[in-house]
Amino acid sequence: MIKGERIILLHLERADLPRTLKWLNNPEVGIPLGKTYPFNLSATNQWYDKYVSTNKAIVFKITVKGVHIGVVKLDDFVYPERIARLSFYIGDDKFLRRGYAREAVSAMLKYGFGQLNLHKIYARVFKNNPNSIKLCRSVGFKRERVLRKEKYLNGAYVDVIYMGILKSALNKQR
Ligand SMILES: CC(C)(COP(=O)(O)OP(=O)(O)OC[C@H]1O[C@@H](n2cnc3c(N)ncnc32)[C@H](O)[C@@H]1OP(=O)(O)O)[C@@H](O)C(=O)NCCC(=O)NCCS
Repeated sequence: MIKGERIILLHLERADLPRTLKWLNNPEVGIPLGKTYPFNLSATNQWYDKYVSTNKAIVFKITVKGVHIGVVKLDDFVYPERIARLSFYIGDDKFLRRGYAREAVSAMLKYGFGQLNLHKIYARVFKNNPNSIKLCRSVGFKRERVLRKEKYLNGAYVDVIYMGILKSALNKQR
C-alpha cells in the first residue's frame, strides 16, 4: 500500500480486471493510452499472468476512500540502466480534474525511485493529450524526444512525445 495525501495505491488484483477492461474499452481512456483494439477478458487475464504476476509490470489501482478510480503502472524495465516506463489513467470520469492523477503519479515516482531504485522514468505521451503532458511537466518530467507522426489514432497520425524524469530531479524537488 502506498499512501498519497488523498489517494491510496493498492496492488491491482485479478478481480479488478473486469472494471479496468471496461475503462480501457472506453475510447476516452483507451485511445490516449494508444489502445486501438478492443480488449477482452481472456487477453487481459493473459496480460495479468505474463506481466503482473511476474512483476514485469508493477501495477497499482488508484483508490480514493476505498473507491477504485484508475490505474498507475510501471513496466518495460531496462537493466542495468534502471529505466522504466510510466503510464496512468483515471477510469471513472467523476474523478477527473481533481488532482488525483497527479497525486498518484507523484506517489508512483517516489515508489519507483525509492523502493525500486530506478534511475529514470519516462512516459510516452501523444501530442494531442495536453492534460497528460501538463501533468507530467507539473511533477518534473522534461520533454526528451519527439517521434513524428509515429502513432495512428482515430484516423490520423500523431507525434509521440517521450518525457523523462531522473531520480536526481525528484530528489531536488524535496
Ligand atoms: C491524463 C489524465 C490521467 C489526467 O487526469 P486528471 O484527472 O485531469 O488529472 P489531475 O486532476 O491530476 O490533473 C491536474 C489538474 O486538475 C486540477 N485540480 C483540480 N482540483 C485539484 C486539486 N484538489 N489538487 C490538485 N489539482 C487539482 C489541477 O489544477 C490540474 O489542472 P491543470 O491541468 O489545468 O493544471 C486523464 O485525463 C486520463 O486518464 N486520460 C486518459 C488516459 C491518459 O491520457 N493517460 C496518460 C497517458 S501516459
